[in-house]
Amino acid sequence: SSLPLYPHRHLLGISDLSPADIELLLDRADRAVAISRQSEKKTSTLRGRTQINLFYEASTRTQSSFELAGKRLGADVMNMSVASSSVKKGETLIDTAMTLNAMRPDILIIRHQSAGAAALLAQKVGCSVVNAGDGAHEHPTQALLDALTIRRAKGALSKLIVAICGDILHSRVARSNIMLLNALGAQVRVVAPSTLLPSGIDRMGVIVCRSMAEGLKDADVVMMLRLQRERMEGAFVPSVREYFRYFGLDAEKLKAAKDDALVMHPGPMNRGVEIASEIADGPQSVIQEQVEMGVAVRMAVMEALLD
Ligand code: NCD
Repeated sequence: SSLPLYPHRHLLGISDLSPADIELLLDRADRAVAISRQSEKKTSTLRGRTQINLFYEASTRTQSSFELAGKRLGADVMNMSVASSSVKKGETLIDTAMTLNAMRPDILIIRHQSAGAAALLAQKVGCSVVNAGDGAHEHPTQALLDALTIRRAKGALSKLIVAICGDILHSRVARSNIMLLNALGAQVRVVAPSTLLPSGIDRMGVIVCRSMAEGLKDADVVMMLRLQRERMEGAFVPSVREYFRYFGLDAEKLKAAKDDALVMHPGPMNRGVEIASEIADGPQSVIQEQVEMGVAVRMAVMEALLD
C-alpha cells in the first residue's frame, strides 16, 4: 500500500501515539470504511494470520467489532471464552497468555478489568497486542473511533470544543479520549459531579465544569458516558433520578451547545440515566456512526500493526 509505515508493534494506549500516528490510523480507517460499505467486504490483507480475542470482561460491542474487523481483513479469528476457560479454574493471566502464545497467534486483543493488563501481556508474548480496555486506564480503539466519527462530520478536530460528560472517574473511554483530543488540538471540557471526577484530572489538560450549562456552552461535540455502577462500591450519586436531572442529556440542556453539535455515546447506554431517549435517537446523535467507525478503526489498527 502507499500509506506510510506505522512505527509500533502494539496498541496499548493513546499515550504512546504521536499526532502523526493518530492521523495515519484515521486515514487508514477512512479506507476501511469504504471497504465496509461495498457489498463484497472482505479483503485479504491478513489472510493466513491468526487473531485471538481474549475478553475478561463482558463486552458485546467491542468484541464483535474486533471479530468482524479481523474477518473483513481475511484473518482467522478465535474468541477465547474466558467464562468457560481455565481462568475460572484459577489460571493466571500470564499462564493463559503463555498457552495462547504457544498457538502462535499474530495478534492478541485483550480486555481486562485491571489497568496495565495489556502492557503486561505485551511483555510476555511474541505477537502484537491490542488493548481493548484495561480497567479505568485506556481504551485506545474507542478514542480512535470517536475521533474518526468527529473528523468525518467536522473535517478536523483542531479547535473544536468537546464536552465529555458523566462518569469520568471510572472511564477508560474518557482518559483515552482526553489524550487523543488534546493531541489533535481540540479543547476538552469534562462535566461531572465531584464524586465522579478523578483527582488530578485538571493536570490532563481539560477544563473542569460543574454543570451541564457551563460545560455544553457552544460545544461542537457532546460525549456522554455511561454511569458505571458495576465499578462503584459506595454511593457516588444520590439517585439515578437526581443524576439524570442534573447531568443527564435532554433537549433542554442540549440547547446550550452549538446547533449542529454532535451527540455521542460509546455504549452501552442507559436511556433515562445519562441520556434521554429522544436525544439518543435524535437528529444530532451519531451513536450508530460510532459503531460503524468502530469496525473500520479496528481494521485499520490491526492492518497497521501487522503490515
Ligand atoms: C465502554 C467500556 O467498556 O469501556 N464501552 C465499550 O467499549 N463499548 C464504556 C462503558 O462500559 O460504559
